[in-house]
Amino acid sequence: MGFEKKILCIGAGYVGGPTMAMIAHKCPQYRVTIVDINPDRIAQWNSDNLPIYEPGLDKVVKEARGKNLFFSTEIEKGIRESEIIFVSVNTPTKTFGAGAGMAADLQYWDKTARQIREHSASHKIIVEKSTLPVKTAQAMERILTINDNAVRFDVLSNPEFLAEGTAIKDLEDPDRVLIGSRETPSGLKARNELVEIYANWIPRERIITSNIWSSELSKLVANAFLAQRISSINSISALCEKTDAEITEVARAVGMDRRVGDKFLNASIGFGGSCFKKDILNLVYLCRYYDLKEVAQYWEGVVKINEYQKERFVLNMLNAMFNTLAGKRVCLFGFAFKANTGDTRESPAIFVAKRLLEEKAELVITDPQALDNAMRDLEGVDGKVSFNEEPYVAVDGCDAVAVMTEWDVYTGLDFERIYRSMAKPAFIFDGRNILDHKGLYEIGFNVFPIGKPALTHF
Ligand code: UDX
Ligand code: ADP
Repeated sequence: MGFEKKILCIGAGYVGGPTMAMIAHKCPQYRVTIVDINPDRIAQWNSDNLPIYEPGLDKVVKEARGKNLFFSTEIEKGIRESEIIFVSVNTPTKTFGAGAGMAADLQYWDKTARQIREHSASHKIIVEKSTLPVKTAQAMERILTINDNAVRFDVLSNPEFLAEGTAIKDLEDPDRVLIGSRETPSGLKARNELVEIYANWIPRERIITSNIWSSELSKLVANAFLAQRISSINSISALCEKTDAEITEVARAVGMDRRVGDKFLNASIGFGGSCFKKDILNLVYLCRYYDLKEVAQYWEGVVKINEYQKERFVLNMLNAMFNTLAGKRVCLFGFAFKANTGDTRESPAIFVAKRLLEEKAELVITDPQALDNAMRDLEGVDGKVSFNEEPYVAVDGCDAVAVMTEWDVYTGLDFERIYRSMAKPAFIFDGRNILDHKGLYEIGFNVFPIGKPALTHF
């Protein structure tokens, strides 16, 4: 059977994998191939154990795989054979040279652009999926056209707004799809072609178009605004702890104003994930580059509050446990940066674990999906750490529990049983405010929520 379109995606990660699987699932008339330089990753995508955990993903992949969805390491062949190429290679924060710790590391991007140029013999639409600094499309266009080999490329920006843990739902029913293009006849034509792909399952009014720079910038700004809400509520949680106000009550009262809205106001141990910090730092770097110092400082504050919140959590633990954690056993409930994912990138749990180890605490880490990543994250770190998927076993003999991730499973545990198995006095630090604090206190725990008065027996 001939396919209507041949689509390629370079980069089979958290963004490329689920996004392309959804396109294949919704559009059996297209052939979708995902390539990656990492052969292990591709082998996993072709196996029963997909490389990422995402509710609903298995079903979508398994239904389309081998029919119109293919995973491969043959990047060059993929480029030659495709008309539309999505690029979703990683763009981590630079760790070296100019802009280290701030700017996006574009080496994978650059490499990919060159590879596309080298192996293209016909017109192609290149779609930026990864989050990128504004004006990356321009750099991409320059790299692509340098050969002057008469092959024409149209570069589009189509940032992905999916959140991990809800990726399938977000892809199936997104708030909006954003497509940015050059406003030239060929740019607009390319843009319409991409609109047609999404229109297979997304109502047209939710597919919005813009100029290419607005699209690139919108992605950074969307993440900055979301992170800003979390830092705002987290900063107020510190004030609540001093004033006997309760952060959940404040968030509810504030969030019921429809102009503010009630989403993303859960005080926590701090935000994690591969995007927020990276994108804000990227935004800060751009502002500095354009000499907008005040704007840069404003957004940098969002990251600073997040660092402060993580450190504050550790200092609260230290303070509550009589100013020493040396030799005490602490069980971390969760290591993923949020529930329903195995991803631990920038997880606040990494920071907390390292800080607790510095204080010479012993750690036992439990998580339903993220233990492999947790082991990798803590490889080579000094101190005593063990891992156990079973929370009742993990917590046995511990002095304290610290909730790092809001997995549902933790709210349903038998805390009477847990209390009996722990050393006394037993402490719970609820970094996600998901537990029944009064109930725990009545069992005998000393309870330290975020942004609420502590409940202690001494
Ligand atoms: C985010 C954006 O939501 C998504 O649109 C973008 O495409 C990628 O970045 P993600 O990082 O997967 O998605 O997760 P998100 O749900 O946004 O959570 C990020 C972090 O904020 C997590 O650590 C989460 O636990 C934390 N968070 C979220 C809070 O601490 N409080 C909240 O109220 C919401
Ligand atoms: P994201 O969360 O943005 O999807 P990931 O790190 O999960 O980021 O995925 C990016 C993927 O891109 C990785 O699997 C990586 O191996 C792949 N990748 C990086 N550079 C290249 C490249 N030049 N060619 C093909 N794949 C690449």
